[in-house]
This record gives sequence, structure tokens and C-alpha cells, in this order.
Amino acid sequence: MSAVFLREAVILSIQWCVVQSSSTQLTKLLSPLSAPLRHRRNFCTHLYTPLCKTNMGPTSSREVTQLVCQESDLQDGQMKEVEIEQNKILLVRNEGKFSAVSGLCTHYGAPLIKGALVGNRVRCPWHGACFNTTTGDIEEFPGLDCLHSYKVKVDCGKVYVTASKQKTTKRVKEMSSREPGVCHTVLLIGGGPASLQCAETLRQNKYGGRIIMVIKDEKLPIDKTKLSKAMNIEIEKILLRPSDFLQKHDIEVWTEKDVVSVNTEGKVVTFSDGTTQPYDQLLVSTGARARALQVPGAEMENVKLLESYKDAAGIYQMSVGNKVVIVGTSFIGMEVAAYLSDKAASVAVVGKSEFPYQLSLGPDIGKMTMKMLEEKNVKFYMNSGVAEMRGENGRVKEVVLQNGDVLQADVVISGIGVIPNSDFLKGSAVEVDSRNAVVVDKFMRTNIPDVFAAGDVVSFPLALREDKMVQIGHWQLAQAHGRVAALNMLKKQTEINSVPYFWTVLLGKSIRYTGYGEGYTDIVFKGNVEEMKFLAFYIKGDEAVAAASLNFDPAVSKVAELMASGQKITKSQAESQDLGWLQLP
Ligand SMILES: Cc1cc2nc3c(=O)[nH]c(=O)nc-3n(C[C@H](O)[C@H](O)[C@H](O)COP(=O)(O)OP(=O)(O)OC[C@H]3O[C@@H](n4cnc5c(N)ncnc54)[C@H](O)[C@@H]3O)c2cc1C
Ligand SMILES: *[C@@H]1O[C@H](CO)[C@@H](O)[C@H](O)[C@H]1NC(C)=O
Ligand code: FES
Repeated sequence: MSAVFLREAVILSIQWCVVQSSSTQLTKLLSPLSAPLRHRRNFCTHLYTPLCKTNMGPTSSREVTQLVCQESDLQDGQMKEVEIEQNKILLVRNEGKFSAVSGLCTHYGAPLIKGALVGNRVRCPWHGACFNTTTGDIEEFPGLDCLHSYKVKVDCGKVYVTASKQKTTKRVKEMSSREPGVCHTVLLIGGGPASLQCAETLRQNKYGGRIIMVIKDEKLPIDKTKLSKAMNIEIEKILLRPSDFLQKHDIEVWTEKDVVSVNTEGKVVTFSDGTTQPYDQLLVSTGARARALQVPGAEMENVKLLESYKDAAGIYQMSVGNKVVIVGTSFIGMEVAAYLSDKAASVAVVGKSEFPYQLSLGPDIGKMTMKMLEEKNVKFYMNSGVAEMRGENGRVKEVVLQNGDVLQADVVISGIGVIPNSDFLKGSAVEVDSRNAVVVDKFMRTNIPDVFAAGDVVSFPLALREDKMVQIGHWQLAQAHGRVAALNMLKKQTEINSVPYFWTVLLGKSIRYTGYGEGYTDIVFKGNVEEMKFLAFYIKGDEAVAAASLNFDPAVSKVAELMASGQKITKSQAESQDLGWLQLP
């Protein structure tokens, strides 16, 4: 496992520990010994300013007020990390005013002090989540929860923050539950981030009807992005919400329920077991599935696709100590190759271009990642494709390439692109495009009233690109879609205007990406790709339409914030020696 990922994973597990041990911590904090000490510390700070008695209002015994800095220490647009009672807190100054929120991102716990601050919004340096620094509310994803916000008081040039004595990590936004007598059902097809975010947004906005989430597979919603980065992770560590959370907020989850058709006239869906369920409003958020290889032998049982928890666990088991062939050099194929490189007997990767990610990230970054993996004994077979798979007793033993090369294989993993899961809409009036993506407008509405769609299954208008219709498979966008769909279901008109943000992890190195690079003609690099410290701008016409980075934080998050504010990044800005306009720390 890679260093950065390891760090993220460790932080994740730390948070799990916190949840488990909070009651012991609480007793420790409330023990009679610690309280007077705390008062004394407070008292001391006051001694220095005898004429300026700070009154923060009634502070309960569970809170503590602490002097954190001088007013003059922070200018507008600056932030500072302070620690109160083991809580890392981000202090921000904007338009003269101070505010304070928890200092760690609610997604995987990145230190927000390293992020990009624009006005009263901070964007996480790791995967681009955004938080309002006044309220702590999450405004862009990934991540589900908000930050705590803390009381700040400035008195006689000194800045005081009041925080809880308990260790507090995330803040779950207030949510309603079902109200008796409300006869209205929102049916969500799919159990991915788009569905879950839609359900939670409905409850956050006091929706009192019934919410049913139906999922084809047997698991509750999980963090699917881990499946290629930590293939044998325990399911409990990647559940997006525990089942009691979903129960508490009356989000019904029906697993192993496969929708086979939708009747939009009668407003009812039919499942593969023959049962039906009526709805008032529907969300189609069925994601996309991996495209299967179309070659002789591809139907054999050890030819795998990576979509579900079960797939990841199965691939891991089949791969340890065995010969692995991976077909496809996009994000999933490369992450799996990296992850298995020190676990399998051998890893061979087959790609049809010269370098991995050739189209998306460009040849230089592709070449660098290829070298990284080659150093871990991964063998690449590029400019090639699979002609045939040979085996016996229904199991592949050899992968034959188009150039005649033969690779030994105990397991083959195919990652060659995705297809929207919209087959069950055939025969309905819901519009899909030529690639079978469900067509939605900027309110995530399909052509049929009360039928919304979100996530990887849709083609939607991208605000960043003059509303060009696009299909983008990013976790963060799926959540944003789900949120916008929910608000529009509730007639709170909201447009989708999120800036796409994506990440991938190889051997502990995180590549971050923002924007939409389709059709770029040039790449401008800052730093050095070979040294694995770079920022890349993807140029189309006179504009940088996307950026990617490695070891260059928070550049990509800064770029995302500029794009979010509607600013265009020009080619000459990207080419300039001076990156002052990006205001990196
Ligand atoms: C291995 C892997 C790694 C990834 N890594 C990253 C990453 O690092 N960063 C990133 O930004 N993105 C990553 N992605 C992409 C990201 O996971 C997707 O963009 C995101 O999950 C899309 O969310 P969604 O809600 O649209 O659909 P999904 O998460 O795909 O969920 C679809 C749901 O619909 C259900 N379903 C499908 N058909 C039916 C049916 N007929 N009836 C009932 N239920 C149905 C499925 O069971 C599933 O629960 C990764 C994807 C994979 C597979
Ligand atoms: C942050 O929250 C404040 C207070 O609710 C609000 O006025 C402001 O518009 C929010 N900022 C952003 C960037 O949404
Ligand atoms: S850790 Fe902040 S967005 Fe992932």
C-alpha cells in the first residue's frame, strides 16, 4: 500500500477508533482532575488582559474557551490551525471577520489548513470536498458530513475560540424522519453515492414521506472507490452509513432487489422477483457497469470484472500468489495492478495505447506511472489487445495477444470501460442517448415528469463547458447530482454546477484531477513529471480546461475553486513562469 493512501487509511481507522472510544474519553475529560486545570489555563489568559473581560456568553462545562492568537496574526484570506482539547480547528479570516470550523476533512480526514481557501469556503487538498467556513456545512463532495463550527470572539486584539472538551470529528446535518400521514414515496433505484446523497438531502430538507432505496446487490451503500485501492478491506470499514443510521432516518434499504422495468404512466417499478412498487417520484441512479471483453474464452469463470465488494474480495483471493493479467490501462486497471504488484506471483497489464491513461492524462504522466509500476515488477504489454483466451474446465490458463504473445494467467481482470445501467428503461418513455446514458437537464430531470436521474448513469449538461452534454464517472459528481435531484424533487430549484474532481492512487501516490479535459490539444507542465512532482494544465483553444497534479497540493483544489467561481484560466496564465495568479502557499 502506498504512503499517501496509507496515511489516508490510517486516518480513517483513527476515526473509527474515536467513535468506539468516545465514552472512555468522555469520562476522562469529565474527571474531577482535569476541570480545574482547564479553568486555570483560561484564567491565565485573562490575567494578561485584565481590563478586557472576554464574555463568550454562557459556556457550558462541556466547553472551553481558549486564546488562540492575536487579531493581527491573520489577514483576510488566511487560515491557521489551532488545537483545543485535542480538536484540530481551522481558524479563518475573511472580510475582517474570524470564523472557526473543525480542521480535518470529513471525507478521509485531510488537514484543511493545507487546502484552498477562497472567500468563506475551503476546498480540501486531497479530493476536493468544500466546506463553508462560517457554518461548517459541506458544499461540495466527496464526504457526507459537515464540520463543526465554533464560536469565535475577538476582544482587545485577541482571538478566542470556544470548543467542546470532547473530541469531535464530524457533524451530521440535521435530518427529519417520516411524518405520519404523509402519503408520498420517493423510490431510489441504486445504492451508490448518488442515491444515498439524494436520500439524505431529502431528509435534511424535512421531507416527511417514504424513502425506499433498492439495491441489486446484497450490500448496503459502500465506498466503492476503495475496491481497487484496498481490495481486501473489511466491509465495515467502507460502509457509507451503518444500518442503524439509515433506520433512524427512515431510509428504507432493500437489498438484492433488481429493477427490471419502469412504468412511468402507472408510476410503478417491477423487480426481477415479480413484485412491484409504486412511487410518486423516482430517481434512476443505477451507475455504470464494467464492459466485458468480447473475445473467445472471455466467458470463463476466472475472467473478472470489478464492480462490487464481492468482486473485489473474489479477485483478491484468486490473485494472491498467482499469475494475474489485467486488461485495460485506465484508472481501475492501473490501481488494481499497483495494489496486486506485491501480492500476486506476477502482474501483466495489456493496454491498447502506447502508455496508460494516454487519452485522459497524456503520454508523459502515463509513461511515469508505467515506470513506477515496472519498478514493482508489473509487466506492460502496450499497443496491444487480447485476441483470445484459452483454458480448460472453464478456467482461463493463457491470454493470447493480438501480436501472438501468450501470457500465463490464473485470473484475468478486465477494466476496459463502462456501460450505463439503463437496460431496465427499455420500453419506457425515459429518454436515453446513443450510449444508453439517461438524458437529464441541469435540474437532473429526465424527459418524464417525476423521473429524475443522477450519477454515472446520466448524460448531463456541464456548466463548466457551456452545458455540453457529458457522462462523467466521478464519485463527487454522483453525490452532487443526488443532492441537486433531491432539492428539485422538493421544488427547491437548484442547478447542477459542480466542477468535476477526481483522484487516483498508485503505490501511495495520489494523482488529482479537476475540470473536463476532453478535446485538449496541449499539455503545459509545471514542476517535473519524472520526479513525480508536477502540475499539468490541459489546454483547449485559449483555455486551460483541466488540471492534474502529483505532489503539488493544493494546486488542483485551487484550480477547481477558480473554475467554480466562473473564472477562466487562460493558456498564457498556464504557460507563465510565474504561478502567482494561483496563489499557492
Ligand atoms: C473500483 C472502482 C474504483 C473507483 N475509484 C474512484 C476514485 O478513486 N475516485 C472517483 O471519483 N471515482 C471512482 N470510481 C467511480 C465511482 O465509484 C463512481 O463514479 C460512483 O460510484 C458512481 O455513483 P452512482 O451512485 O452513480 O452509481 P454506483 O455507485 O455505480 O451505484 C449504482 C447502484 O445501482 C445498483 N443497481 C444497478 N442496476 C440496478 C437495478 N437494475 N436494480 C437495482 N439496483 C441496481 C447497483 O447495485 C449499485 O448499488 C471508482 C469506481 C470503481 C468501480
Ligand atoms: C456560507 O454560509 C453563510 C451563512 O449561512 C452564507 O451566508 C454564505 O453564503 C455561505 N457561503 C457560501 C460560499 O455558500
Ligand atoms: S479527504 Fe477531503 S475530500 Fe477526501
